[in-house]
Amino acid sequence: MNTKLYVENNKDRFINELIDLLKIPSISADSKYKKEMQDAAEMVEQQLKSAGCEKTQIFPTKGHAIVYGERIIDENLPTVLVYGHYDVQPPDPLDLWDSPPFEPVIKNTELHPEGAIYARGSCDDKGQMFMHVKALELMVNENALPCNVKFMIEGEEEVGSGNLAPFINDYKDMLANDVILISDTGMISKEHPSITTGLRGLSYVEVEVTGPNRDLHSGLYGGAVANPINILTKMIASLQDDNNRITIPGFYDKVEELTAEERAKMAEAPFDLEHYKDSIGIGNVHGETGFTTNERNSIRPTLDVNGIWGGYTGEGAKTVIASKAYAKISMRLVPHQDWNEITELFKTHFESIAPDSVSVKVTPHHGGQGYVTPIDGIEYQAADKAIQDVFGKSAIPLRSGGSIPIVALFEETFDSKTILLGFGLDSDAIHSPNEHFGVWNFLKGIETIPHFYKHFTQLKS
Ligand code: BES
Ligand code: MN
Ligand code: MN
Repeated sequence: MNTKLYVENNKDRFINELIDLLKIPSISADSKYKKEMQDAAEMVEQQLKSAGCEKTQIFPTKGHAIVYGERIIDENLPTVLVYGHYDVQPPDPLDLWDSPPFEPVIKNTELHPEGAIYARGSCDDKGQMFMHVKALELMVNENALPCNVKFMIEGEEEVGSGNLAPFINDYKDMLANDVILISDTGMISKEHPSITTGLRGLSYVEVEVTGPNRDLHSGLYGGAVANPINILTKMIASLQDDNNRITIPGFYDKVEELTAEERAKMAEAPFDLEHYKDSIGIGNVHGETGFTTNERNSIRPTLDVNGIWGGYTGEGAKTVIASKAYAKISMRLVPHQDWNEITELFKTHFESIAPDSVSVKVTPHHGGQGYVTPIDGIEYQAADKAIQDVFGKSAIPLRSGGSIPIVALFEETFDSKTILLGFGLDSDAIHSPNEHFGVWNFLKGIETIPHFYKHFTQLKS
């Protein structure tokens, strides 16, 4: 199977087809884009059909549709279930983009001499999901599809996959599989292929602090009445101690502690602290005492304010004590921490630290459990062999700090392992202005995926 040649011969078309998909603003969070979400689902279905899916279907949900496709060649052969998402994050702030987010352009950069595609969703996850569609086309056209394949491409990953959980329960039989394959993560660098072996869980909450029953004159009342913004910021500051450990009682109780060997193994992964600092323009790193940067952003839990507002933020000055202050807070969780439990612990603690001069309301948003893939199973081995075939060296196992909450549920529902075979780079700026995806990365992904199918089928039988 010469996947390199097929990719080389078809790459311009692959890129143009991806660009067509990237032009659709499929922003799941914004109800204004309902039609575009449907358009994107239809384009994905069309692409699955032309790649060789013999059966496809768009399943409407209470939110955005789920696209399904399959090519079953023999009931007795293993089945790979590909998961991905066609929805994207909102592109704002728009003025920070060098080119419009839904008008894809290819630019050459030092890191990407072969070009990179700039558009919202280019890496997360349209570009990476599309690698699987084109890999299927390759295997079908080259007569090299060794097993059955199913695709489940959702439109609500960026808003918490709320309708996917009931869907996988309702269609458990249709979705039955031997392994789940996802490209929605990254690799260390172009020279250091890696396979993501862990994802963090998530608990996302919103808090509201209420003081007086109306906005007040800050001269007439200031000093005598609790200012909800002052109180909120103080409460938030108290959630971390001087060692940057989270102060919520019970928060660390179930955190998985890695052995010294496991930590030493992790530390072998190439990492350049100076480059890390330079690449995001910071003077120094920050985090929990006793842990390295790579540990802090993968095997340790976090608590971060994602947004905070209240009071007067318009032009000029207004002397006011606002009635309310708000914040959105996310906690990244690690194996064994249960997100529902953590949400409860947060709520109880946050309410308990509020002075009686204000009232607080905690509203949970969404969440999910973390996930770890074993590296001694045939699933990981197949992925590593695929990497070896294409990159000429073994993959580095890598725990990621990001979350794909539905992954833990896959394992519960199907009892199969998930392989996170990502081709993005940290510098791709996912969720940020100027998101891009290297053409090299995109094509390497298409080239590598068929090797996974081949090795998985061999190891399984
Ligand atoms: N693809 C990302 C997750 C990711 C990126 C994991 C890179 C590992 C490496 C996914 O689309 C995402 O953004 N997930 C959200 C969670 C979701 C509930 C909004 C996240 O991690 O913030
Ligand atoms: Mn994603
Ligand atoms: Mn994302």
